[in-house]
Amino acid sequence: MRTATNQKVEVMGVFRGWWGLMNEELKVFDHRSVSGIINQGGTILKTTRCQEFSTAEGEKRALNTIQKNKIEGLIVIGGNGSFSAAHKFCPKFKIPCIGIAASIDNDVNGIDVTIGVDTAVNTALNAIDNIRDTATSMERIYVVEVMGRDCGFIALAVALAGGCEEVLIPEKKFDLNDVCHNIVQGNLKGKISWIIVVAEGAGKAEDIARQIKEITTLDTRPVVLGHIQRGGRPTAMSRDLALRLGYEAVNCLLRGETDKAVGMSAGKVCLVDFETAIKKKEIKLEKIYELIKILT
Ligand code: F6P
Repeated sequence: MRTATNQKVEVMGVFRGWWGLMNEELKVFDHRSVSGIINQGGTILKTTRCQEFSTAEGEKRALNTIQKNKIEGLIVIGGNGSFSAAHKFCPKFKIPCIGIAASIDNDVNGIDVTIGVDTAVNTALNAIDNIRDTATSMERIYVVEVMGRDCGFIALAVALAGGCEEVLIPEKKFDLNDVCHNIVQGNLKGKISWIIVVAEGAGKAEDIARQIKEITTLDTRPVVLGHIQRGGRPTAMSRDLALRLGYEAVNCLLRGETDKAVGMSAGKVCLVDFETAIKKKEIKLEKIYELIKILT
């Protein structure tokens, strides 16, 4: 590929991410390699987690692949797991490295929005809109489980945009008795349906729905959205971000930047040290909870 300053850059696709670096043969990318993928979800690189990479032997094999293929810099696409691995490996072996913040969990510290999260949130939101039709018609309570093992971002975003009555996330302790108390009080005032969004890290929809049904005696059903949130056509925002950040990452490497991630903050492309990016991201919860409570 050529950069804005007409500099020629050879790009190699490391298939299966860190695991791919365990193999010696890499594939050189050209324009054709990425043609027709702009409207696809998932990853053509098939990046995946790799336990072996965290061992000394794995690091040695990855370094060998890099040296053998004369790779002069790495671009790591992922969230804080991928960046933690890059931050450990690249400075140790003096390999220039830039990360691109891409994760549906939106859990990269110092970066407002990661590639993919807007698509995942909109997919979950569509599902919740559909569920609301049955919740209202049949006068039921639904507990909808969305992705987010350690991070409640998707849950908060869909609960707010979907007008959901309650949201349970790993970052905030909750007492199901309080949730049930609110449901019963609302029910006494004529409220007939509820949608409770739960991030997977906060509990299982099935268990929570069963307990709510036992305590309130109201018809309560669980729905697990699962991996449908990981696929589908990327939204305009996710595509825009991917293009901007990809371009920026290449230019950062050429400028000699390293050990940093590119992302968006306050509407602008920003660079964040991996050291900062891998720290636990704090979400300002109070305002979001206040808004959700005002809406119900
Ligand atoms: O890290 C992103 C994420 O989508 C989490 O929210 C979720 O818990 C996890 O990946 C699911 O991973 P897997 O498909 O490997 O079970």
